[in-house]
Amino acid sequence: MLKAIKFFKDLFLFVPVSLVIQPIARYLAFIYYYNLLVRWIYKNKKGIAYNDFYSPFRDYHKRSTLYQYILDQYNLSQQQVLYMEFGVASGVSFKWWLQNNQHSSSAFFGFDTFEGLPEDWGVYRKGDMSSQIPQIDDQRGHFIKGLFQDTFLGFVEQNIEQLKSPTQKVIHLDADLYTATAFVLSQLYPYLRKGDLILFDEFNVAMHEFKAFHEFTTNFQVNLQPVAAVNNFYQTAFVVA
Ligand SMILES: C[S@@+](CC[C@H](N)C(=O)[O-])C[C@H]1O[C@@H](n2cnc3c(N)ncnc32)[C@H](O)[C@@H]1O
Repeated sequence: MLKAIKFFKDLFLFVPVSLVIQPIARYLAFIYYYNLLVRWIYKNKKGIAYNDFYSPFRDYHKRSTLYQYILDQYNLSQQQVLYMEFGVASGVSFKWWLQNNQHSSSAFFGFDTFEGLPEDWGVYRKGDMSSQIPQIDDQRGHFIKGLFQDTFLGFVEQNIEQLKSPTQKVIHLDADLYTATAFVLSQLYPYLRKGDLILFDEFNVAMHEFKAFHEFTTNFQVNLQPVAAVNNFYQTAFVVA
C-alpha cells in the first residue's frame, strides 16, 4: 500500500495532473480554512464570557467595547503595560489604548509602513490605507515606520530588556494580512509570557488573521485562550495560557 502511495505521489510530480485544478485551488484552500474557522468557533464560543455571537450585523464601534472589557477585566488602566500595535494607520485604536492606560512607565509602540498595505487584501489594493504618522502629545507613544519585516528585528535589538521583562504585554494585531500577522506572531514568540494579551482585529478572516493564528498556535504549540469577541469573532482577544 505504502509503495503504491509513494509511486503515485512521485508520478504526479512528473505528470502534473493536479495543475488541472489550479484555477480553483485558492477557492479550495479558502473552503479548507473557512471550515477550520467554523469548527474553531463552535468549539470555543460557549467558553467566552464576552461574546456577541451570533449578531446579524457588524458594528465596527463594538471593538472599543471589547477594548474596555479587556481593560477592566485585566485592570489595565493603572497598570504598567508594554503595548505593541501592528497596523496603526491613522492611529484610532493606538490612541484609544494610549488614552486609557495612565501608568507613567507604560510604553506604546506602533508599527506601520504608513504607506498603506504592502499587498492586496480582499477588495483593498496595495497602498490602500496609507496615512500620516499620527500626531500625539504623549511621550510614552512611539511609531516605527516601515514594513514589520524590515523594522521589527531592529526594534527587538534596541528593546530586548523591555521585551524580556515581566511587564504585561498587550499586543494588537491589526495589519489585516496573513503575511504580516504570521511574521509578527513568529517573531514575538520568544517574548510571550503567560497572561500576555493578544488582540486580533480581523480574526474571522479565514485566509488571513485566522490562518496566521491557526498556524502559530499549531506550529509553535502556544496556548491562546479566547477571552472576548465581538462582531462574530471579527475582533477577538486572547490571553496566553
Ligand atoms: C486596518 S489598518 C490599521 C488600523 C488601525 N489599527 C486603526 O484602528 O485605525 C492596517 C494597517 O496595517 C499596515 N500594514 C499591513 N501590513 C504591514 C506590514 N507588513 N508592515 C507594516 N505595516 C503593515 C497598513 O499600512 C495599514 O495601515
